[in-house]
Amino acid sequence: MNFIKKQEEYIKKVLLENQYSIENVLLVPSSRPDLGEYQFNGMMALAKKKGENPSEAAQKIANILSKNEDYESVSVAGPGFINITFHNSALLKEAEHLLTKESLIEPLPKKKVVIDYGGPNVAKILHVGHLRSANIGESLKRLARKLGYEVIGDIHLGDYGLQMGLVMLEIQTRYPHISCFQENFTGEAVNDLPITNEDLLEIYPIASGKSKTDPEFLEQARAITYQFQHDHKGYKALWRSIMNISLNDMKEVYQKLNVEFDLWKGESDAEAFIPEMLEYLRKENMTILSEGAEIIEVKEPTDKLEIPPLLLIKSNQTVSYETTDLATLWDRTHHIHPDEIWYVADKRQELHFTQVFRAAYKTQIIPKTTKLEFIGFGTMNGLDGRPFKTRDGGVMSLRGLMNEVEKATEEKIIPSITGEERKKVSEVIAVGTLKFADLLSHRATDYIFDLDKFSDAYGKTGPFILYSTVRMRSLLKKAEAENMTFNFLELKDKTDKKVLLQILNLQKVLESSLQDKSLHEIADYLYSLNNCYNNFYGENRILTEENSNLKKTWIALTKLVYEINLFLLDILAIEVPTRM
Ligand code: ARG
Repeated sequence: MNFIKKQEEYIKKVLLENQYSIENVLLVPSSRPDLGEYQFNGMMALAKKKGENPSEAAQKIANILSKNEDYESVSVAGPGFINITFHNSALLKEAEHLLTKESLIEPLPKKKVVIDYGGPNVAKILHVGHLRSANIGESLKRLARKLGYEVIGDIHLGDYGLQMGLVMLEIQTRYPHISCFQENFTGEAVNDLPITNEDLLEIYPIASGKSKTDPEFLEQARAITYQFQHDHKGYKALWRSIMNISLNDMKEVYQKLNVEFDLWKGESDAEAFIPEMLEYLRKENMTILSEGAEIIEVKEPTDKLEIPPLLLIKSNQTVSYETTDLATLWDRTHHIHPDEIWYVADKRQELHFTQVFRAAYKTQIIPKTTKLEFIGFGTMNGLDGRPFKTRDGGVMSLRGLMNEVEKATEEKIIPSITGEERKKVSEVIAVGTLKFADLLSHRATDYIFDLDKFSDAYGKTGPFILYSTVRMRSLLKKAEAENMTFNFLELKDKTDKKVLLQILNLQKVLESSLQDKSLHEIADYLYSLNNCYNNFYGENRILTEENSNLKKTWIALTKLVYEINLFLLDILAIEVPTRM
């Protein structure tokens, strides 16, 4: 068992033996390192429950705890905080164990989870908002897998709604003579479509603009959306061709960001399940006809805000974003049978998911035992505190942003790295910079993307962690070249011990990060761990240390921190450059 958890179990045992309840026994890194290394803050509440004096009760328990061989000292501070300082030998033993066992962490009970993330819209530009969904979703997927879950990542493309009708109408206006718009068209794809991805990205904003000023254009786009949703040969083929063009480009961007989906399904894949779902809902009398539309009521008596009904079929007989999500749930529950489904989307979509989740449970499309979770994220803003824009005020594309970050990182790489390697290295550091910055704040908060700050080699930044990792790697290479052996044998002073204390917290950080579905704790932890290591590194000469026990320990320590860095960077989907 993980060292800290083992200590918590031990404290629980002591508490039980002394007739205390044991709901909340947590051992956390001390907020007052001068008083102890870890602290247990629960004693006050437990004592109050029994009507005892908290500080006396804490002292009584501390006296018992101090007999534990793993503890160098146990003391009580303030009204009843119990501070524990560990014996070096206990930490060394634990570190040696971590270094030699197969995995750095222990798995949680198995679960099957679908993560719905990325969610880009076909034929629309990938913008920075999609960056967050991709980064957070990818890392949650990797984290959950490391902790033993079976996870299926699904991109859930936006490929079915009015946006597709708008793009198709604009194409039809420009190229009325191409094959798919002719009467007798029967092909699967449009071979004479004169359009590239750049054209598509330019077409959508134009079409969307027209729809806002020209009601007839909007009406026509709606009609096309209806036809394409009802198997019109020409529009279906055009849709397929647009998908092809758009997906090729998206795949490239996601690959650069180390984002890998298991399923490339989309809203349109729900189409196949809509008829059976509707049949079921109607048979069970769960839909209501209302002004030409068909809806499901989802409000509840306890609602403080008005939750509007879910619009299943619009009055123009097209289906909504809610319908495709509901039918996707139908698909997932019938064919994947997950224990949980997580949706990583902009927090402004919360109402949408409230409607979908409520409708899904109410209609029993999914069983009560399947947990649906909305994982909302905040906005990435520019220095002015407003959504990130290009210099001339346009929407910043993901590619545009990546190029800017690459430029900034390239300037900071040492001149001796040249040619192809320089290009690759700046690309890797740029992605690391972007991702680390994006995962650093709690996912639900908005944050300001300050390129200068986030590309700095000092501070809570990707480059800082990467630099620290690269330096450890080269130290370990030197040690290896000289056949130096390593073991955890002895500690010198506070700075090496502090690194070990950080290491002990790994398992809990991962579990809490998964619990909260936010990566900020992992990013923070990486920073503290590397910061502690840096302090230690600055004070000692590892490879030339004369005390061989210390030297062996320090190499082992470097090795362990290096392994943890690789492990956590892999969760954050950040690569380590060859040099920096
Ligand atoms: N395509 C949507 C958008 O860009 C996000 C999709 C989120 N996932 C879902 N199952 N609705 O806003």
